Amino acid sequence: MRLYIDSADLKEIAFLNEYYPISGVTTNPSIIVKENRPYLELLTEIRGIIGEEKELFVQVIGDTAEEMVDEAKFINQQISGNVVVKVPVTEEGLKAIKLLSEENIPSLATTIYTSFQALMAAMAGAKYVAPYVNRIDNLTGSGVNVTAEIVELFASYHLSTEVLAASFKNVQQVHDVCLAGAQTATVAPDIIKKFIAFPSTSQDVAVFKKEWQNVYGSDKTNLINSK
Ligand code: E4P
Repeated sequence: MRLYIDSADLKEIAFLNEYYPISGVTTNPSIIVKENRPYLELLTEIRGIIGEEKELFVQVIGDTAEEMVDEAKFINQQISGNVVVKVPVTEEGLKAIKLLSEENIPSLATTIYTSFQALMAAMAGAKYVAPYVNRIDNLTGSGVNVTAEIVELFASYHLSTEVLAASFKNVQQVHDVCLAGAQTATVAPDIIKKFIAFPSTSQDVAVFKKEWQNVYGSDKTNLINSK
């Protein structure tokens, strides 16, 4: 499983990139505008934090396939390193994904609500598809079931496109798409931090430390004998 940060908050990205096993950062127009600053400058700073190797996802805004392709090329010129262009699965978006694939420009098909949207995007050459798990749940569907169907369809048809599950409101949803076979997920910082938060862990750690230091002295660690 590969994990991405779904945020453009530089402080959060810097923290999570240092402490967690992160493969990159995903953005969308709503995430970018939240930071309220020139977007290319912001994306360049994100690139500076995560380095050139990790993937940075940027969404196109245009209505036509040609506009989307032009935006994709512009973004790739402006932002160094591994960039993936996010393209919504409209008809124009599907055409854009085909054109980008012909030019070997990696794309992610976004705003996916059904497994068939994902199938079309994969057949068009998308590198990733992003089922919107929580938004599907909010429509009384099951984001996890849609994700599981996509995984199954891609396996049946030997499609190399990966699932990058998106739109989460809690850890359980992320847990369930992992079990459903999603290769990757993008998650907001507050939810990522809850992945390992469990009170018993901190309690156990405190007891271990207390027992050790009762015998070897307060403030002592395994470095007791080191110089
Ligand atoms: C990915 O970047 C998606 O756009 C994002 O996960 C959507 O999340 P939301 O439904 O919480 O806005």
